[in-house]
Amino acid sequence: MRAMTPADVDAVLNIERAVQAYPWSRGNFTDALNHGYMCRVDEMDEEIRGYAILMPVLQEAELLNIGVAVGQQRKGVGRAMLLEMLDVASKKNMLRVFLEVRSANAAALALYRSAGFSEIGVRRGYYQNANGSEDAITMACELTGELNG
Ligand SMILES: CC(C)(COP(=O)(O)OP(=O)(O)OC[C@H]1O[C@@H](n2cnc3c(N)ncnc32)[C@H](O)[C@@H]1OP(=O)(O)O)[C@@H](O)C(=O)NCCC(=O)NCCS
Repeated sequence: MRAMTPADVDAVLNIERAVQAYPWSRGNFTDALNHGYMCRVDEMDEEIRGYAILMPVLQEAELLNIGVAVGQQRKGVGRAMLLEMLDVASKKNMLRVFLEVRSANAAALALYRSAGFSEIGVRRGYYQNANGSEDAITMACELTGELNG
């Protein structure tokens, strides 16, 4: 994994548009870079396989986005990126990481649970979807220095 740069945004956007029903825009990614959020890509053989974005706020952080290219999913890339983000946050002395995930996103929910996240709340009808709306599950991972996975 390495830091995302503006030159990566095209490749990241291509993945994002392929894997998210409601993808981030180019502006969302460039804003994240410009704001100094922790933006990382997983690259192998000069091909970007995934990306993750963490927004620090004082001693807490929020995982804003994580995605893995369709052909690279279920090979451990997502877990490796997530654990790397938790490690970076831990080394910056952050206390916990939050995230929100669609209630129907079974893959992401399983990934987050396996990395030590617990459900702490539900936001009813938070996300738009094809049927109107769906709930957001809010999750948190306490950073104790002992990472799971
Ligand atoms: C969620 C996502 C990032 C997971 O990345 P990945 O590289 O495929 O995940 P990994 O291979 O590291 O899998 C880690 C764990 O996640 C869970 N998981 C991943 N894909 C899964 C699937 N299709 N079904 C059920 N569980 C799944 C499993 O618990 C898995 O552990 P295991 O392989 O030991 O069973 C990927 O599916 C993705 O990009 N999805 C679209 C974007 C998205 O939904 N992002 C999250 C919300 S912003």
